[in-house]
Amino acid sequence: MVKNESDKIKEAVSGEEESEIEEIKKTKKKEGKEPELTDLPGIGPAVSAKLEGAGITDLMGLAVIGPNELSDISGISPAVARKAIQAARSLLDLGFVDGAEFAKRRENTLNITTGSKNFDELLGGKGIESRAITEAYGAFGSGKTQLGLTLAVNVQMPTEKGGANGKCVFIDTEGTFRPARIKQVAEKMGANPEKVLKNILVARAFNSDHQILLVDKVSELIKNGEPIKLVIIDSLTAHFRAEFSGRGQLADRQQRLNKYLHSLMKLAEQHNLAIYVTNQVMSNPAQMFGDPTTAIGGNIVGHASTYRIYLRRGKQGSRVAKLIDSPNLPDNECVFFVTEGGVVDNA
Ligand code: GTP
Ligand code: MG
Repeated sequence: MVKNESDKIKEAVSGEEESEIEEIKKTKKKEGKEPELTDLPGIGPAVSAKLEGAGITDLMGLAVIGPNELSDISGISPAVARKAIQAARSLLDLGFVDGAEFAKRRENTLNITTGSKNFDELLGGKGIESRAITEAYGAFGSGKTQLGLTLAVNVQMPTEKGGANGKCVFIDTEGTFRPARIKQVAEKMGANPEKVLKNILVARAFNSDHQILLVDKVSELIKNGEPIKLVIIDSLTAHFRAEFSGRGQLADRQQRLNKYLHSLMKLAEQHNLAIYVTNQVMSNPAQMFGDPTTAIGGNIVGHASTYRIYLRRGKQGSRVAKLIDSPNLPDNECVFFVTEGGVVDNA
């Protein structure tokens, strides 16, 4: 049988080397540090500098490229490149899978309707999906929280009604969770408002440390049998932005955000659940034309989000959602409305 590249990468690291990688993982964890490129076999300071020059600054960047590309950039042989890639994947617990396994996994991907057909279409037909992070960014009042509240209700619906038959965890960093709004949306869906409210586990995150800690709490809840299929974080970035606002703190903030996003992605992968996060915008003085707004957290958040949506107010009380840089869908826009019953196609 001819081996495919993904098998070759998997087999590049021997059993003995694997335990060495486990050792590195443990040591780094104890030290409270993230593994770096130079921790990987075959990657010394000179190679690492070349990689950084090519924009590969962390393990995630390396884990997702191919051995030939890595070899071209750094000058190491493809065999060494495979070893380094596999080591990076193990260190990140990425558990890459081959095509057949991937296809099988896709089959049980869950979707949650946004409440608007147009919006669902924008996201590929059925709304937001499991094993993915969907990020909505936009100005205040653009509908980010309202979309979250709608999803928190819709996830509980049966699949025929666009739900995932699951519960929701709502991580609230800004005190914007509104039980009364949940009840209204539930009523519109023809569901029992009290029951729907009970199936939303709300946690107020008081600072970024607390917010990060809550990821483990979600895992615990799931282990205890809670069928959680949606995790909402409203807002993803507000605490990080407030706490790391000083000059020279940007790199720290980005690093922490990056780590947090990786743990969210892992949560989504491990438990086949959907993650919806909101993000604020800041004005970008460098952009002279068009809409001068950029999402907080920039590329770090952009790379980690599977689907990135920009929300803004449209004509006559409508909202516009624009899909940005999706890996498998065209950049497109749609119009929707926020009503008492949540997100809908027409007011
Ligand atoms: P920030 O959190 O401030 O950044 O904004 P956001 O994007 O989260 O805004 P949010 O989703 O809270 O949207 C608020 C807007 O939704 C309001 O200005 C209203 O236009 C609309 N909205 C909220 N509740 C209702 C409602 O019950 N009925 C109607 N018709 N509109 C509502
Ligand atoms: Mg909000």
